[in-house]
Amino acid sequence: MRRHITLLLMILLAVACQPENNKKSRGSGDPEMDRFISGLMKQMTLEEKLGQLNLPASGDIMTGQTKSTGIAAKIREGKVGGLFNIRTVEKIREVQRIAVEESRMKIPLIIAMDVIHGYRTAFPIPLGVSTTWDMELVEKSARMAAQEATADGICWTFSPMVDISRDPRWGRVSEGSGEDPYLGSRIAEAMVRGYQGDDLSANNTMLACVKHFALYGASEAGRDYNTTDMSRIRMFNEFMPPYQAAIDAGVGSVMTSFNEIDGIPASANKWLMSDLLRDQWGFEGPVVTDYTAIMEMTDHGLGDLQQVSALALQAGVDMDMVSEGFLNTLKQSLDEGKVTMAQVDQACRRILEAKYRLGLFEDPYRYCDEERSKTEIFTDANRQFAREIAAASFVLMKNEGGVLPLKKGGTLALVGPMADNTENMPGTWSVAADFSQSTSVRKGLEAVAGSEVKILYAKGSNVVQDTLLDSRISIFGKPTYFDKRDPAVMIREAVAAAMKADVVVAAMGESAEMSGECSSRSDITLPACQRDLLKALLATGKPVVMVLFTGRPLAIPWEAAHVPAILNVWFPGTEGGHAIADVLFGAVNPSGKLSATWPQNVGQVPLFYNHKNTGRPLAPGSWFQKFRSNYLDVPNEPLFPFGYGLSYSTFTYGDPKLSAEQLSGNATLTLSVDLTNSGPADGAEVVQLYIRDLVGSVTRPVKELKGFQKVFLKAGETRTITFTVTPEELKFYNSGLVYDWEPGDFDLMVGGNSDAVKTARVNWTK
Ligand code: BGC
Repeated sequence: MRRHITLLLMILLAVACQPENNKKSRGSGDPEMDRFISGLMKQMTLEEKLGQLNLPASGDIMTGQTKSTGIAAKIREGKVGGLFNIRTVEKIREVQRIAVEESRMKIPLIIAMDVIHGYRTAFPIPLGVSTTWDMELVEKSARMAAQEATADGICWTFSPMVDISRDPRWGRVSEGSGEDPYLGSRIAEAMVRGYQGDDLSANNTMLACVKHFALYGASEAGRDYNTTDMSRIRMFNEFMPPYQAAIDAGVGSVMTSFNEIDGIPASANKWLMSDLLRDQWGFEGPVVTDYTAIMEMTDHGLGDLQQVSALALQAGVDMDMVSEGFLNTLKQSLDEGKVTMAQVDQACRRILEAKYRLGLFEDPYRYCDEERSKTEIFTDANRQFAREIAAASFVLMKNEGGVLPLKKGGTLALVGPMADNTENMPGTWSVAADFSQSTSVRKGLEAVAGSEVKILYAKGSNVVQDTLLDSRISIFGKPTYFDKRDPAVMIREAVAAAMKADVVVAAMGESAEMSGECSSRSDITLPACQRDLLKALLATGKPVVMVLFTGRPLAIPWEAAHVPAILNVWFPGTEGGHAIADVLFGAVNPSGKLSATWPQNVGQVPLFYNHKNTGRPLAPGSWFQKFRSNYLDVPNEPLFPFGYGLSYSTFTYGDPKLSAEQLSGNATLTLSVDLTNSGPADGAEVVQLYIRDLVGSVTRPVKELKGFQKVFLKAGETRTITFTVTPEELKFYNSGLVYDWEPGDFDLMVGGNSDAVKTARVNWTK
């Protein structure tokens, strides 16, 4: 600590002696910080400045292919700016000690981790969090994750991931908020608020990092790390809004994406990182690359490590994750005049500013509180919240004949490869979760049903029968417990249990690592061995409830046609088993709504609700018409539309009423609709507002989400729901990329999903 005070005094002295015109011209709005950092940088050597731009990965957790080595020595030499994937306060305190006591400049490290959906207490995967459509819950989940992570030494999270994706083959749809830019933007803002709070220097808030900038969700063919290519007009109207929303919400950092944009990988894309992000959007924080994204640009074909590192710095990237290209090549590039000292200084300053804002210069051990790590992580309150948000994320896809909720009585056959698995419950990207401490479906049902229900368990099938595929989907400590028995024997055992039961609960679908990074699938159906099990169970004539685990929209038309009840639970997190039992037995009425369209088959992909009309639209409700835009072999309709989800109750919509049918200029329109809970149970409904701009200077989508409200109504209750619309909601990027609205007719649609809406028309002049 004394050394730290000495450092501060040295800096203050240097600042006092600094000529006025040497002061930073940009100005961050915090003159004290500017003075402090200028003073610090005056004393740093070039090598030390380059060290700040270096972000190695500790070996505690693997999230990429390349390992960083010799980290402690590098910290001592001032060659490390931050560290990620390191765990425990003890270890973090030690690396921080090396930095602030043994390096010449004594600059603290920034410590990062992928805190994606909770920390030790895992919440549902982000796609599941998004299907709550409940911004309070979303924000609270990020707040609680920050509380736990900062109690464990972490002050920077690589979240939120806001990549819009319309391709369920891409495994990383599980990490985002689905296909819609409006919903995605609201979630991005809520996450940033949750992580960063009002005061970034508080010991329980953390720096957020919006990723992956940009367009990573549009990888061709849904294959991870693949090329993206799209028009600017599509980019700005449909893919960019959530990134910008996070920036506007004050996100502290940005991560580049692996893909290229207009032929230039994001990490070397000056248009993206400087012209758009900095100049147009006004972002001033640090930009970090994704894992080894700089060195990967050699494989992209942009040159050797020196060349691609120079390109990245020139583009406006500040921190190099794992490649060590900045550390090892920028000096030479400076000598050769390929980059400038001003560029190095700029990047270094941005990283130091982030550390300053986190309060690390004041106290480098701010996030290293052993006491907090013992008392604030995986608490009962956090687990209780995990249970609540998990139940809120479930989407009831089908409930024929009111099979659900189940009665607490009789005998229940619990079958399926996900029924007795704890490790897979947290889902992908849950690097800090303790898998052994999550609740399986079996444990959850036993706990909630108690002795009132007799539970018979049989596995019934593996997740997949192909052992090679099984080895690929059970990495990262999430075993599938492959059963070597003959599949027919396993099915017979499950059928025997079903025969003795009143109802069958089949927990099946994907295992956790079937989605996530590098988990693309070309076939998004239910694996054949599970389908065989399902067929055998249905043949018993017993009512079957499918509890569906998945990290992506699946193509399950057969299951949707034949299984009477389907509850989609995504990957529900630590408390998943309890939450599933809460919903199955009716303690919680499901209210989740899809944030991404579910296709009938993979050939329809990309399939999304906010598409254009084409010049040859298919007549509504028809399947095939010659010379119309359709398929010979499958209707255009999705299996389940965006915004869809059932409840144990039913909700009835009145006709939407407008405050005016004719408006002019900057007016405010009110749309109101009577919503009645017309079913037997209290419950929540997500009321969705869509708008269609009927005539434009460029073609406009058939509908776009522009508002939503999640409302809780008692059985029989009616409430008037009101939305206000201003020209702001009518704006879009035109062919000149000007963001404005155009006068004309607009359809305002309100309903419980994108496919079940009631419409009112308005004319709006300028
Ligand atoms: C992922 C990022 C992640 C990073 C660090 C990369 O492979 O694409 O989302 O934040 O690793 O773990």
